Amino acid sequence: MPTERSLTVAEVAHRSGFAPSALRFYEGRGLIEASRTSGGQRRYQRIVLRRLAFIRAATNIGLRLEEVAEELATLPRSRTPTAADWQRISRDWRGRLDERIAAIEALRDRLDGCIGCGCLSLRSCSLYNPGDEIGTRMSGAGRLPELLRRRGA
Ligand code: FES
Repeated sequence: MPTERSLTVAEVAHRSGFAPSALRFYEGRGLIEASRTSGGQRRYQRIVLRRLAFIRAATNIGLRLEEVAEELATLPRSRTPTAADWQRISRDWRGRLDERIAAIEALRDRLDGCIGCGCLSLRSCSLYNPGDEIGTRMSGAGRLPELLRRRGA
């Protein structure tokens, strides 16, 4: 049985739309795998294109890299995901999107009270300091709903 020809960095970059530096980064984080030639050049199996498509889709909906890694860990490394795999993942992503939409809507509703104001008052601004959270427990970047504080949100 013939073996599948592996792909070079340039081929994977071209076909996936990711820069070679991103491929190295994802490999370093364990999201994708590459073998090495005797000369030390990276070679990828074709399945890496599916994993990269998954990474792009997941980051497009706002998953953090750690969350992408967790999801990828549930997928097989040696075969493409099945319809059942995708159904399970899309159910989970839908839930995350719903949470994020709710957080953004809450932020938008608070913004309505601030439009044209600009005071960012620590005492009275529900956008800057909702429910006086800063006064009771937060400092610095803790001002946004948790879902919107995530990197990549
Ligand atoms: S900016 Fe003034 S109340 Fe929010």
